[in-house]
Amino acid sequence: MVCRTATITAGQRIFIHGLSGSVGYGLLTFCKMQGAIVYGTASEKNHAAVRAAGAHPFTYSNKDWMKAMNEMGGAHVVYDPLGFESWDESWNILAPAGGYLVGYGGNYNVLNGGEPRSQLAQVAKLIAKGLIPFCPNKTTFFYIDKDQKTFEPELKKLFGMLESGDVQVPIRKMWTLGEVPEAHRTWNQGLGVGAVVIKVAEDGEL
Ligand SMILES: NC(=O)c1ccc[n+]([C@@H]2O[C@H](COP(=O)([O-])OP(=O)(O)OC[C@H]3O[C@@H](n4cnc5c(N)ncnc54)[C@H](OP(=O)(O)O)[C@@H]3O)[C@@H](O)[C@H]2O)c1
Repeated sequence: MVCRTATITAGQRIFIHGLSGSVGYGLLTFCKMQGAIVYGTASEKNHAAVRAAGAHPFTYSNKDWMKAMNEMGGAHVVYDPLGFESWDESWNILAPAGGYLVGYGGNYNVLNGGEPRSQLAQVAKLIAKGLIPFCPNKTTFFYIDKDQKTFEPELKKLFGMLESGDVQVPIRKMWTLGEVPEAHRTWNQGLGVGAVVIKVAEDGEL
C-alpha cells in the first residue's frame, strides 16, 4: 500500500489511523523508511510504543488530531481503515495544495460499538471525490487478496525483509490453536501494538 498508492517522499506528513494495529504499524514502518514524518491515532496506553517507533500519536477518543494536522499544513497522505464518516474527516485534513486519501477498510461502526454497514456506496463516494475536476486531492480504495499477481512476490519480499532484520513486526500477543475462541473475544483489548499471532505448531514441526 505504501509503495503502490501515493508516492511517499522524505519530509512529507503522513497520517495513519490506528498506528498501533497490525496494518497501521506496518504502514508506520514503511513510511518511516521513506523518510516521512508520521502522525496518527492510537489508544493512549499505546502511545509510548508508537512514539518509540518514531510516530507522533494522537488519541482517537476526540478529534484534536484534525485541528492539529490542519494547523501544521495538512497531511500529504492519509491511510484510513475506518471508512464512512472517517473518510470525510480524513479528507478534511489533506494539505490544501493536494493530498492523497487511501481507504482500506470499513470498521468505523463496529469499532464504535455499532453494527456493520454495507460500504459499497461509501467506496463509490470515496473514489468519486478523487475525480472532482480541478480538485488537487486524490483518493483510492486499496485491498489485497491472494489471487492478485503481486500477492506472492510481495509476501516473499516482506518475509525476506523480516529474515534480514530490515523490518520488525511487534507481536501483540501469541495464542495457541486451542485459544482461538478467546483470541476472538479479546484480540483488541489490553496493552500492545502490532500483530496477533496464532501458533499452529511448535518450531520445526511443520
Ligand atoms: N484492504 C485490505 O486488503 C485489508 C487487509 C487487512 C486489513 N484491512 C483492514 O485494516 C483494518 C485494521 O486491521 P488490523 O488487522 O490492523 O487491526 P488491529 O490490529 O486490530 O488494529 C486496529 C487499530 O484500530 C484502533 N482502534 C480501535 N478502536 C478504534 C476506534 N474506535 N477508532 C479509531 N481507531 C480505533 C486500534 O488502536 P488501539 O489498539 O491503540 O486501541 C488499532 O490501532 C481493518 O479495518 C481491516 O479490515 C484491510
